[in-house]
Amino acid sequence: MEKITTSKVQQSKVHGQKIIMLTAYDFPFAKILDDAGVEIILIGDSLGNVALGYRNTLPVTMPEMIIHTRAVSGAVERALLVADMPFGSFQKDPKDALFNAIKLVKAGAEGVKIEGAEYLEAIKKIIRAGIPVMGHLGFTPQSVHQLGGYAKQGKSKKSAQKILGDARALQKAGCFAIVLEMVPDDLAKRITKALKIPTIGIGAGPDCDGQVLVTSDLLGLSVWMPSFARPKANLRKAASRAVKAFIREVRG
Ligand code: KIV
Repeated sequence: MEKITTSKVQQSKVHGQKIIMLTAYDFPFAKILDDAGVEIILIGDSLGNVALGYRNTLPVTMPEMIIHTRAVSGAVERALLVADMPFGSFQKDPKDALFNAIKLVKAGAEGVKIEGAEYLEAIKKIIRAGIPVMGHLGFTPQSVHQLGGYAKQGKSKKSAQKILGDARALQKAGCFAIVLEMVPDDLAKRITKALKIPTIGIGAGPDCDGQVLVTSDLLGLSVWMPSFARPKANLRKAASRAVKAFIREVRG
């Protein structure tokens, strides 16, 4: 079994091999993803809306991320484990951001993901401490109120330039990869060509170096899912059928 490292992820870009990243928040799903050969498992702060019933990712706390990172890391042997830094955990100052990143590493994360390019000093400090950082640009869910809702970013020339500039700044700061969420396909292609580090797209077209999805969207478990998700199963239906079968069995 070949353990996936950040440098292996970067070599995938060089070799033109697409990188696969999916989210997990608990032991059983993490085991399924790891056994299936997913390269990066993300303990996303989508935990909030997917598993904890929150309206969005904003309420997710460090203690919640720590518990779920621990659960996932218990199952994973091969994949690279990246944990999201939740809203409020990296904005205060770089020292506080490093303190929180270390907590996620102690829970089993092998890297952290930070949304936006506004906190470069925090990102650099975390990387200097030996913790790999993944960037996240385009639609950044933690800024949902500022972005005015769930919408594609980088549609105007000016905002496309800003995202490209941010991607270059994150690469320069030392990020090992960048998630591009909900940007036009041609912008994702341009950024992917301009960067040495891999891009991992979600709703950003086919030309990124890899693709990421929220696993419950992929499996048809989510109540709501984005149009780009294209589920490969309908686990909601299958689970409901199993529950009804149990009810019938017990009641006769
Ligand atoms: O939190 C998350 O699941 C994410 C992915 C959608 C990239 O950030």
